[in-house]
Amino acid sequence: MTGLFVVLEGGDGAGKTTQARFLDQWLEAWAVPHLLTREPGGSWLGSRIRELLLDPDSGPISPKAEALLYNADKAQHLADVVRPALGRGEVVVSDRYVDSTIAYQGAGRVLDPQEVRRLAEWATDGLVPDLTVLLDADVEATSGRLTSRDRLEAAGDDFHRRVRQHFLELASRDPGRYLVLSASDPREDIAAAVRRRLAPMIGIGPEPSPPAARMGS
Ligand SMILES: Nc1ncnc2c1ncn2[C@@H]1O[C@H](COP(=O)(O)OP(=O)(O)O)[C@@H](O)[C@H]1O
Ligand SMILES: [Mg+2]
Repeated sequence: MTGLFVVLEGGDGAGKTTQARFLDQWLEAWAVPHLLTREPGGSWLGSRIRELLLDPDSGPISPKAEALLYNADKAQHLADVVRPALGRGEVVVSDRYVDSTIAYQGAGRVLDPQEVRRLAEWATDGLVPDLTVLLDADVEATSGRLTSRDRLEAAGDDFHRRVRQHFLELASRDPGRYLVLSASDPREDIAAAVRRRLAPMIGIGPEPSPPAARMGS
């Protein structure tokens, strides 16, 4: 049995963590074995790398070093967390994956996005998500949602506009594997759209909980 690999992508404040929670509740209610994880940070090494990358007190990190750190996190995350869970037949929901690396590194305009993509493919042995949910928003719509700004979030609005364009371009290249939703929609509507898309892939209903559970409530 091979599981299902679902990725949430989008800028900071787009609602990835919020939607990961909705997905968690839905899969829990339908008793689907699943795992919630995130990049960077889903493995022991990843959480150390995450600290290095996102701590505002970190010194300057060169673009190539940054790309390698993100991809070191990815390689460990896949080996330790994602592949074992997929091997157990679980639905794996990852908050960010390869697209974030390509979009953010690409937006930095120093590295060639094609090179970053090849590096990420190498780090992940080319593991492609079954579905990527892209929460798309303009910077103005979601930057107000952020309270504390970490190192990446503190980058300028132009940078974030380029990140958004990279995400949209990646989605447009492989539409069958993407669900692009407006991050400004009500969170429950977004969650329902994600459930509608995933339900047939998993073989459960799109309702937040199965009929039997609802009857009792
Ligand atoms: N669809 C939405 N509409 C309005 N606010 C939202 C929506 N989704 C999430 N939020 C709020 O925006 C903030 C950032 O959401 P979060 O899920 O943490 O984003 P991310 O994980 O993508 O950075 C949180 O305060 C969250 O409650
Ligand atoms: Mg988050």
